[in-house]
Amino acid sequence: MAHKIAVLPGDGIGPEITEQAVRVLGALGLDLELHTEPVGGAAYDVHGHPLPASTLNLAKESAAILFGAVGDWKYDSLARELRPEQAILGLRKALGLFANLRPAILYPQLANASSLKPEVVSGLDILIVRELTGDIYFGQPRGVREVADGPFKGERQGFDTMHYAESEVRRIAHVAFQAAQKRSKKLCSVDKANVLETSQFWRDTVIEVAREYPDVALSHMYVDNAAMQLVRAPKEFDVVVTGNLFGDILSDEAAMLTGSIGMLPSASLNASNQGLYEPSHGSAPDIAGKNIANPLATILSAAMLLRYSLNEAGRADKIEEAVQAVLQQGLRTADIFEPGTTRVSTSEMGDAVLKALK
Ligand code: NAI
Ligand code: MG
Repeated sequence: MAHKIAVLPGDGIGPEITEQAVRVLGALGLDLELHTEPVGGAAYDVHGHPLPASTLNLAKESAAILFGAVGDWKYDSLARELRPEQAILGLRKALGLFANLRPAILYPQLANASSLKPEVVSGLDILIVRELTGDIYFGQPRGVREVADGPFKGERQGFDTMHYAESEVRRIAHVAFQAAQKRSKKLCSVDKANVLETSQFWRDTVIEVAREYPDVALSHMYVDNAAMQLVRAPKEFDVVVTGNLFGDILSDEAAMLTGSIGMLPSASLNASNQGLYEPSHGSAPDIAGKNIANPLATILSAAMLLRYSLNEAGRADKIEEAVQAVLQQGLRTADIFEPGTTRVSTSEMGDAVLKALK
């Protein structure tokens, strides 16, 4: 039976980069049924909403979603719920995409792109597993109120609530342990258990889940230390699992170790391995429509789609090898160009990956 895939190109460079990833998916001899719908600003322009029912329904019916990017300054004056970025939050919520997988890989061919010393980052290949639908970002109550008593009595106070239910911690822990089993069997759980009750509970729960994965070596680290170790000795990590807030910050930090935003894919999965796959970068309106954006993060996201939602690890490997091959040939889009390499356009990079796949 054909696998149904939703293609949501979105705004800015979204259409240009997804086009290349779609070409790659189409070249693998798989039985795929691809359907395209607008999302973000592009959907607002047509349907008056960044995530219209037609787009959401397609996403729900699909085994996986290939997502470009959303957002443009021209929507800045819209009410918050109509802004392009709301489409991603809506999709995460509607599909229960609680597990965000963000690999940070420094390809040997791009060793100079990192701001860290080569000996610290060369060969870097880590995976951050971030919980995506809980934590202080969604905890109730939240708001602004007048303080009734204590030292700040009578003042206005902004507040949020941090909490994690046992089932929420368990399910993200399972995802992380299983990812670790497929890699070097090392998992580091990051929290702030010295200060936060939520974090102590997180740690205790992860330790319980660890009994089911005796082959994985579990360690724990406080988030402030993890932020330091990521720049001091990032290769000490393999798989990192953490909550929504800490994961937001650490995954961006890890991404920057590689120095090349155009190269980093991501996956957001639910309990049935349905997933949304998108590059870690945004819609880059500054370079949209010029055929100069780097499509590799989106092509690598398509590889994650095959790996995690379609169980096609072999074909995912092939895409990743093809990306390495084009880098080895010295082909570079503008964002990763350096003297001595060959500058190519978005579509030429897509051509090269297709050729390397053959
Ligand atoms: P951005 O990631 O779009 O761009 C940052 C810088 O990186 C820009 O100079 C851009 O030209 C460059 N860049 C990004 N992707 C590139 C690629 N594939 N190839 C070459 N260069 C690339 O972040 P920014 O500028 O903060 O946000 C622009 C818009 O994207 C905003 O509307 C923002 O809300 C949205 N955004 C959307 C995301 C999503 O769809 N998941 C994630 C992050 C931002
Ligand atoms: Mg972030």
